[in-house]
Amino acid sequence: MSKNIAGFSRKTKEEKIEWLITTYFGGNKDAKQTLVSYWNSDDKLQQLHDEFIENTVSNFYLPLGVAPNFIINEKEYTIPMVIEESSVIAAAAKAAKYWGARGGFRATVLGQEKIGQVHFMYTGAPEKLFSFFNSIEAQFHQDSASITKNMNARGGGISSLTLVDKTLELDNYYQIHVCFNTIDSMGANFINSCLEQFAKTLVREAAIHADLKGEEPIEIVMSILSNYVPNCLVRAEVRCTIDDLEPEEGLTKREFAEKFVRAVEIARIEPHRAVTHNKGIMNGIDAVVLATGNDFRAVEAGIHAYASRSGQYRSLSTATITEDEFCFALEIPLAVGTVGGLTNLHPLVKWSMQLLGNPKASELMELIAVAGLAQNFGALRSLVTSGIQKGHMKMHLLNILNQLNADATQKEAAVEHFKTTPVSFSAVTEFLKATNA
Ligand code: MEV
Repeated sequence: MSKNIAGFSRKTKEEKIEWLITTYFGGNKDAKQTLVSYWNSDDKLQQLHDEFIENTVSNFYLPLGVAPNFIINEKEYTIPMVIEESSVIAAAAKAAKYWGARGGFRATVLGQEKIGQVHFMYTGAPEKLFSFFNSIEAQFHQDSASITKNMNARGGGISSLTLVDKTLELDNYYQIHVCFNTIDSMGANFINSCLEQFAKTLVREAAIHADLKGEEPIEIVMSILSNYVPNCLVRAEVRCTIDDLEPEEGLTKREFAEKFVRAVEIARIEPHRAVTHNKGIMNGIDAVVLATGNDFRAVEAGIHAYASRSGQYRSLSTATITEDEFCFALEIPLAVGTVGGLTNLHPLVKWSMQLLGNPKASELMELIAVAGLAQNFGALRSLVTSGIQKGHMKMHLLNILNQLNADATQKEAAVEHFKTTPVSFSAVTEFLKATNA
């Protein structure tokens, strides 16, 4: 039977599910029940989720957890995190406690510039295009005034429009490179609307401008924001004297600090390690980005591009020892919003924002960077001391117990037992067998 279907999006949710269950699950009622069991009992809330995207058939849960005890710029926070990996929240909370006892985290926004581009082709003389472009700059602002009015009133808007000649890299290719300040919104819709207007203005004015008479018409290829925002930047750091570091098993405080710095140095020069090192940072970043309803794909793409800005993929964090001071820092681009998008719609996003004290976008940038740094600290601290598996498997224990269908009593006994014994799938299986016997 063909699995092709026309007009799927126009079917009702019930019809879509019937089609899926018949076509892919042999009509199995349990397969339908799995979808239905994740529907919200509040119809209005379910409808809200149904309408976020097209062809919704159910909700896909991820746990929302919190990491308490963060001190950031002398303010206390409990950070909401949406993540499926068992050890992430525990690591964040542990790092928060560690650095809370040493003055907390410092974070600073270094810039909030967003970028968009109109990509177009032009075959005539470049100097004619540049003189034409300069002569119509005011027109770009005038034509986009209805779009920028509210943003301007909030103190944001368009900060610059530049014509860029890219013909050395691609024949006839130019772009209008536009910088924006979108204040507390991520600004994707605002930026894209402005860019599409600039494209229209460019084509309309070019057709009537004396300088471009007789030239081939400009061809707009596309108008779109860029998720690479190297000037929308935030820095988070922790520092303390070496003497203030916690003693680690088998290492002096200085040995620990030096080993830690070496681990970061390896991630700076070795791409295979850098990717995993940065993945650990993203464990913290993505979790807060998701909890606050922001676009984690945009954040991921932008941050990894930033990690490659030298021409090689490198560590996003740095660690130094200057005389007796240990400093660990993270600098990342982050285009996030605290208004617009899901932030005003998803009840758990609103809840998370409230938990954070309804921050401005700049404060949220700081919190997210700190979550990334905390995660990186936790991972490296384990890696250069006990190894990652000890803590990781401890946190994974409940997943293994659930996989083996352990009941509440067995879980309790296993958690107690594995406080002092290494966790592995086979060790847990053996433990359950022995306790059942
Ligand atoms: C696992 O999710 C993340 C780590 O691999 C990060 C790292 O190696 O630094 C532990």
